[in-house]
Amino acid sequence: MQITVITSLETRAQSDVLVFPFWKEEARALAACPLAPYDHLISGPVRTKDLSGKAEEVVWLYSEMPQEKRLVLLGLGAREKLTRESLRRSVGALAGSCRDKKIRSMTFVLPKSDLLEERDIASAIAEALFSKNYSFDTFLDDSTKKEKHTHLESVQIVAENFASVRDALDRTAKIAEGVALARDLVNGNANDVTPEYLGAVAKKLSKQFPRITTHVHDKKWAEKEGMGLFLAVAQGSSVEPKFIICEYRGDPTSSDHTVIVGKGVTFDTGGINLKPTGFVETQKGDMAGAATALGTIHAVAALNMAVNVTAVIAATDNAIGPNSSKPGDVYRAISGKTVEITNTDAEGRLTLADALYWTTQNLKPTRMIDIATLTGAMVVALGHQYAGVMATAEPLADELIRAGEHTGEKLWQFPLDDEYKEDLKSDIADIKNAGPREGGAILGALFLREFVGNVPWAHIDMAGTAFLKDAKKYLPKHGIGFGVRMFVEFLEKLEKSA
Ligand code: BES
Ligand code: MN
Ligand code: ZN
Repeated sequence: MQITVITSLETRAQSDVLVFPFWKEEARALAACPLAPYDHLISGPVRTKDLSGKAEEVVWLYSEMPQEKRLVLLGLGAREKLTRESLRRSVGALAGSCRDKKIRSMTFVLPKSDLLEERDIASAIAEALFSKNYSFDTFLDDSTKKEKHTHLESVQIVAENFASVRDALDRTAKIAEGVALARDLVNGNANDVTPEYLGAVAKKLSKQFPRITTHVHDKKWAEKEGMGLFLAVAQGSSVEPKFIICEYRGDPTSSDHTVIVGKGVTFDTGGINLKPTGFVETQKGDMAGAATALGTIHAVAALNMAVNVTAVIAATDNAIGPNSSKPGDVYRAISGKTVEITNTDAEGRLTLADALYWTTQNLKPTRMIDIATLTGAMVVALGHQYAGVMATAEPLADELIRAGEHTGEKLWQFPLDDEYKEDLKSDIADIKNAGPREGGAILGALFLREFVGNVPWAHIDMAGTAFLKDAKKYLPKHGIGFGVRMFVEFLEKLEKSA
């Protein structure tokens, strides 16, 4: 999708639809921008109150002008309640309606508000348009593609501040590419998006962007490093595990270094503790954390940001087979700790434990954030609207939560309280990998905490938000690339504070 800025409606090129935004007022809808040359046409729905201006309202009108055949009057809700998220949602509704009408091009007059800068308004609108424009059509034939997925090809934004809006849109477009990469990886077949494939994607990033360096290590290497937990998960599968390090150095003079450790379980059968029907269907998305980490690196590199950030991924299948690790067996972590595997379905924490500890020893991280589809318990706790966050460093959790508020990727903090740890005590090893169902999301985090040393660390459990059964306002079904926009926002704050 091409997105351009013009500063006057008079200079607009032809498009399929022209969009005018409206606020909801008590008495009647209130235009959020000048309506010329359509005042007369629009006064009708305003007068009759067919248009109320309420959020997500989409009213279509038809025009005889050469530049466009259609108009949309788009409700944004109350003027004093405008947020980035309310904008994204209303524009999501608009984009859905446009898809139904096979709209390919759009002119959008920005609303004027005292609450948000014009560039932020433009970004939020573009985010929703890019997001809604995404479709996963690898496996559709051309005619189905055409029938189902009309894409917006070009959008003109009518704004006052040309340069700042153009820059904001350029930034949004680059981030959207990172989001799309993450979505594609989540949505791809488990048998295609293998550990090796994730490694190849990371390698490709290093070819595309000179500031990225990628290392993809094999099973032998992991054996030499002593990654006993990662390998215990991998041994049940016939596909080789890969340990992927994808490093972006945008600020070589600084030692500040953020490491994002993404869970990269390319399919989670549960292992010997096999997942039943009803639970296994979405598990090709169990590498969503890895996808988000790579999508973030893509975005950060495309934006040429002055930060140092590395994605670390211990990628493997969690398969069931003759060599699978068995419940009750004990394995040794790279840290030296022994772990009783009481449940082979608690595999994500095993792969992450070795990845986190390896990171503390080898990458000099200033902070580590792992992002993982870690527990069903988190889905029960927060459903599909919030991801959970737990941290050893309060400021880190706060910054992530704030970044997520900005981007609509909402995080809710859980306690990392030692009292829960009782439930991870093992008779035959230092710790066991799974406890009771109660407090399951916290237990997962407490297990990981054993492997992070003194490095400020946060854990994001996005089991409920990475993969959606139903499309939301501006989000598609299935993989949504959760966290990419939040991480970019988080890293931009770091960049500015440096
Ligand atoms: N990949 C799952 C978590 C998950 C569940 C992700 C639903 C997405 C949707 C994870 O590996 C898992 O199986 N966790 C277990 C842990 C338990 C055995 C302690 C779970 O939540 O049941
Ligand atoms: Mn599992
Ligand atoms: Zn899993």
